Amino acid sequence: MQYNFKKSLFPLLLLSLLISYSCNNDSNFYNGMVSSAHPIASKIGLDILQKGGNAFDAAVAVHFALSVVYPNAGNIGGGGFLVYRLNDGKIGTLDFREKAPENSFRDMYIDNIEGKLKVDDKRSKIGHLASGVPGSVDGMVKIYEKFSTLEWNELLDPSIKVARDGFEVTEKQAKGLNNVRESLLSANDHEIPFTKEIEWKLGNVLIQENLAQTLEEIKKSKRDGFYKGKVAELIIDEMESGGGIITQTDLDNYSSKWRDPVIGYFKNHKIISMGPPSSGGIALVQLLNGAEQLETQNYYHNSLEYINTIAEIESRVYADRATYLGDPDFFNVPQKYLLDQNYLLRRFSEIKNNIKTPSSEVKEGSFEGNESDETTHFSIVDKYGNAVSVTTTINGGYGSKVVVEGAGFLLNNEMDDFSVKPGYPNMFGLVGGEANSIEPNKRMLSSMTPTIIEKDDKLFMVIGTPGGSTIITSVFQTILNVIDYGMGMQEAVDSKKFHHQWLPDVLAVEENTLSDKLSNDLTQIGHKIVKRSSLGRMDCILVKEDGSLEGGADKRGDNIALGY
Ligand code: DON
Repeated sequence: MQYNFKKSLFPLLLLSLLISYSCNNDSNFYNGMVSSAHPIASKIGLDILQKGGNAFDAAVAVHFALSVVYPNAGNIGGGGFLVYRLNDGKIGTLDFREKAPENSFRDMYIDNIEGKLKVDDKRSKIGHLASGVPGSVDGMVKIYEKFSTLEWNELLDPSIKVARDGFEVTEKQAKGLNNVRESLLSANDHEIPFTKEIEWKLGNVLIQENLAQTLEEIKKSKRDGFYKGKVAELIIDEMESGGGIITQTDLDNYSSKWRDPVIGYFKNHKIISMGPPSSGGIALVQLLNGAEQLETQNYYHNSLEYINTIAEIESRVYADRATYLGDPDFFNVPQKYLLDQNYLLRRFSEIKNNIKTPSSEVKEGSFEGNESDETTHFSIVDKYGNAVSVTTTINGGYGSKVVVEGAGFLLNNEMDDFSVKPGYPNMFGLVGGEANSIEPNKRMLSSMTPTIIEKDDKLFMVIGTPGGSTIITSVFQTILNVIDYGMGMQEAVDSKKFHHQWLPDVLAVEENTLSDKLSNDLTQIGHKIVKRSSLGRMDCILVKEDGSLEGGADKRGDNIALGY
């Protein structure tokens, strides 16, 4: 593919990035900001805000833009969650998480081989059986219908143009596409835009004509442009030719859902986050409760005492997650008990300074009674004072690797987020049981944690990240960095992260976080340390005291916050 400099958005983009960045240092943004995983998506969102659109208009435009310029996670073949706060303080969430197809069943990834039951987790990760029924397009239409002020066309047009004209891949994207080449080729027997004869290089142009046509259908017929007609037929054909189980009835029945947010308090801040079927909000509020109770702000940041105490809190919260969290439409999640102050007081009071409890000795908490049982994030604030926090995913990088023939988009592999067998770890090592078992039409449990924070009844922070099971702990630690350690938004994002999720019993730590001594000290008290090249790809916005906006866009990716 020839690189056409005239057609390319790159020169324009570079100029605007330079302007924005120079402003960023002065924190001169009072009107609005978009922080997302890709410069073109952030720019498309910023344009929408500058022409008077609100945060919801920008969210829909950014979501579709990411489906073009960030195909490893941005999507129309996946799902996600929106948390919002209006300028008058009204809050809410939209659950556009994928659902298990009607023909799915509990043990669908378990084979009986000569009388022995064996999990085949390849089928939940790669190929047609890995996909849940996509929710993103239904979600975007619901957001548009409830909150938008611009025309639907205006929100789709910029993405259609980039899909059709192409865009230059970044260095990280080129590397990612090269790494995934073989698995994409083996999952698809038709031509796809993500592979080519020679290696991808920085600046190569990725053109997605089929995706442009699919987006045109969505532009023309909104929900029906995806769940009915030509695109739906292509999805069903793809399922039939590849042995998948999503049917037209599944597409007809899919509906995203407005749900109440999870609300909690941390010191003088109100936490507004996503409830089940995400575990994110409940886990985040539990974690913050533990940090407040154990006064972790008294420890030096990322010291032995800090890391161990935080890891001990995290381990207990993830043990609760494994037992008690699932789709609330199918399982009675004991949310009231999990967030009960007395329960949390008991739960964390057993944590002792500098003592590491083996995970085998940590179990889910108990209480009396029962209420009856590669992702991407973006944050937006507009000039009217509305805020949205959206995390969306096709699960693993490039999802199931299956591109719908003729429609040009990737399908998710979200079925792997179910507990395919009690105690059997998913791709993030997370275990679960009954609460998150596979049932037709059920939503798989998520860790996505799009969150908005108020301080003194005013908008304070918009925050979120991808990272599978590490999403919750990255959001948690970034909040502590700002509130307890006085860091700015970018500094809090840049700051090194660590993660404990109960099982496996390991402490995941970003490279270059621990001195040799600290590493030895943690090992001495029983931590098994595993190094991770990076944790999280945060996209956050902080409202400072003078009302200006500070972006926190993760340098671990190509993320960028643009404001005006
Ligand atoms: O919903 C979840 O928790 C996962 N599907 C998220 C996957 C993810 O963050 C992958 N990206 N790093």
